Amino acid sequence: MDKKAPDTTHFGYQEVSWEQKQTKVNEVFHAVAGRYDLMNDLMSLGLHRLWKDRAVQKMLLHEGMCVLDLAGGTGDLTRRIAKKIGPRGELVLADINESMLREGLRRLDNLGLLQVDYVSANAECLPFASNYFDAVVIGFGLRNVRDQNAALTELYRILKPEGRLVVLEFSRPHAWLQKPYDWYSFNILPRLGDLVAHDAESYRYLAESIRKHPDQITLQQMMTKVGFVDVMYENLTAGIVALHRGWKA
Ligand SMILES: C[S@@+](CC[C@H](N)C(=O)[O-])C[C@H]1O[C@@H](n2cnc3c(N)ncnc32)[C@H](O)[C@@H]1O
Repeated sequence: MDKKAPDTTHFGYQEVSWEQKQTKVNEVFHAVAGRYDLMNDLMSLGLHRLWKDRAVQKMLLHEGMCVLDLAGGTGDLTRRIAKKIGPRGELVLADINESMLREGLRRLDNLGLLQVDYVSANAECLPFASNYFDAVVIGFGLRNVRDQNAALTELYRILKPEGRLVVLEFSRPHAWLQKPYDWYSFNILPRLGDLVAHDAESYRYLAESIRKHPDQITLQQMMTKVGFVDVMYENLTAGIVALHRGWKA
């Protein structure tokens, strides 16, 4: 972590220490792991599947590539990537949270995707060699990482020259959508979380963390600052989600 970083950071709308943030993020994903996929379908009315399809399309994958799904959780993106890179490819699903990794392992093993390597890793300090991966995706993960610049720097390091990073993340919706989206996020989402996962707090954190996450242009600048080139983004569903892609020079 940057030595000049402030003593505190945010966990949703709360100000917390850096250590507390990691503990709280871990608690959220331990709590929701078992209901994570069902909740994704309910919350997004299935749209997250289209967002993930598009993210994988943007990775421009082909047979035999070496790919990392970082903050891969229950493996939705991993499953899509496996189909593209085939049995000759190398595929790693990395996540900081054991409960999410376990859920991913259970789901993907059921599909017979045995070539996936499961790695427990913090995005801020990755246990991979430099210049190793052809492509990396981080889907709905960066928002939860404490030091996002450190994570982007690590992602740049582990990519091969001409490798690509795709970031799929909640972002700033178009102005006309903001009010109904806020109403939905702070009223419906926590209630849905309570009803289905018996956990309103985690889904309140989700709504708050989205508001604290850098907007489209800021994230584009952050990626450029750590060295990515040709960083472009595309809004999905009127900017509720944005897809950023950058290349290692
Ligand atoms: C919202 S889930 C996304 C899971 C999956 N990528 C998807 O799109 O369904 C966020 C994931 O980020 C992981 N995560 C949070 N902080 C992390 C960190 N510092 N390093 C690696 N993974 C992290 C969480 O454990 C969780 O599994």
